Amino acid sequence: MNVLVPGGAGFIGSAFARLLVRERPKWNVIIFDKLTYAGNRANLQPVEGKHAFILGDIADAPAVRMALHEHAVTAIVNFAAESHVDRSILSGAEFIDTDVLGTYVLLTEARAARVGRYVQVSTDEVYGSISEGTATEESPVRPNNPYSASKAGGDLQVRAAFQTYRFPAMVTRGSNTYGPYQYPEKIIPLFVTNLLEGKKVPLYGDGRNRRDWLYVEDHARGILTVLERGTPGEIYNLGSAEEYENVMLTRLILAELGKGEECIEHVPDRPGHDRRYALDSSKAYGLDWRPTVSLPQGLTQTVAWYKANRAWWEPLKSGEYLEYYRRQYHERRSPEMAKHHSASEGRVSKGLSNSRAPHKGREERGRTEP
Ligand code: NAD
Ligand code: DAU
Repeated sequence: MNVLVPGGAGFIGSAFARLLVRERPKWNVIIFDKLTYAGNRANLQPVEGKHAFILGDIADAPAVRMALHEHAVTAIVNFAAESHVDRSILSGAEFIDTDVLGTYVLLTEARAARVGRYVQVSTDEVYGSISEGTATEESPVRPNNPYSASKAGGDLQVRAAFQTYRFPAMVTRGSNTYGPYQYPEKIIPLFVTNLLEGKKVPLYGDGRNRRDWLYVEDHARGILTVLERGTPGEIYNLGSAEEYENVMLTRLILAELGKGEECIEHVPDRPGHDRRYALDSSKAYGLDWRPTVSLPQGLTQTVAWYKANRAWWEPLKSGEYLEYYRRQYHERRSPEMAKHHSASEGRVSKGLSNSRAPHKGREERGRTEP
C-alpha cells in the first residue's frame, strides 16, 4: 500500500506515521504537509529514512495531483487541519481554507486518481456539546465554534463524495487526544510545559467542562483499524469513555509534577465553550478496536516525555507562539489591548486567508525528500 498522509508532521499524524513504519513495514508512507506553526519535521525524526516527505498544501490541487501520481498513491489518511479552537476564535479563515476547501481538493484529486481508500480524521467536536449520554454516529452535527464548524464542513464533503460518486471514503471522529509531540497550545502540553517553566496554568471559566481523553497511540491505532477494516461511506467514533472535568485533569497534572493548587490561574472562559463531549464508540469496537491506555497511565508517560524532551518544546515556545500567547491569554483580560486588537483583526478579515504558501516558501512546494 502507498499511503499519503497529509498533516503527517503534526501531533497525531506523526504518531500514525511512526505506527505504520513500526507495524506495516512493507507500506510506503508519504507525508504531505504544509509545515504550519504546528507541523514539525522533528516529529518524524524517529522514522527518518523510512518515509517520503512532500512540503505542500492540501488546498493546492496541482501539488496534490503531482504527489498522488508520483507516488502511485493507493490510500489517503487526512490529518491536515488547523486544529486549535482558541486560534479559530481569534481568526477562522485559515480553518476554512484547510479544513473545508483543502478536504474538498483532496477528495476531488483522489477520486480522479482512483485512490482506493480514504480516511478523513475528524473530531467529536462536530456533535457540539452533549449534556447527557453519548453521541453516536447518527447524532446531529451541531458545531459551536469556527474550528468545529470547519471540521463539520470537511466531514460533509466526505459524505457528498461517497453519496454522489461512491468514492470509498470514511470518517473517524476522535475525542481529545494527548501524548508526546503535542504542540504546547492544547491544555495538557500547555499546562505541563508551563509548570516545568515555573509558570501558572490558565484554567478557563469554572473548570467544570468535561472532555473524554484518548492516548495518541490508541487514537492512531483506531484510525489504522478504520483504514483497514472500515466500510466505505461510514463514520466511526473513536473515544476512550474516560471523562474528566478540566479541574480534575489539572489536579492530576499538578500531582504528576509535585505542584499545588496555587499554580492554577483562573481566567475568563472561552467564548462558545462546549461543556461536554462524550462518544459512543461501540461501532469502532465492532471492528475490534479498544483504547488501552488510561488517563492516569498516559499522563505519567506524557509528563515524563515532556520532562525528557525540553529540546523539542522549548524552541516552540518562542516567536509566533509568544505573540499568540499574548493575544490569547493577556489581551483577553485587558479591554484596552482587546480594543486595539479587534481594530487590526478587522483589517485582515476582509477575505479568507491569503497565506496559502507553506511556511518554508513556495519554491519548495511539491519537493519530495526520501
Ligand atoms: P496538529 O495541529 O498537531 O497538526 C496538523 C498538521 O497539519 C500540521 O503538521 C500542519 O502543518 C498540517 N497542515 C495544516 N494545514 C495544512 C495544509 N493546508 N496542507 C497540508 N498540511 C497542513 O493537529 P493534530 O492535533 O495532530 O490533529 C490532527 C487531526 O486530528 C486534525 O484533523 C484534527 O481536527 C483531528 N483531531 C484532533 C484531536 C486532538 O485532540 N488533537 C482530536 C480529534 C481529532
Ligand atoms: O475533542 C477533540 C478536540 O480536542 C480536537 O478536535 C481539537 O483539535 C483539540 O484541540 C481538542 O479541542 P479542545 O478545545 O477540547 O482542546 P483544548 O486542549 O484546547 O481544551 C481542552 C479543555 O481545556 C477545554 O475545555 C478548554 C480548556 N482549556 C484549554 C486551554 C488551552 C483551559 O481551561 N485552559 C487552556 O489554556
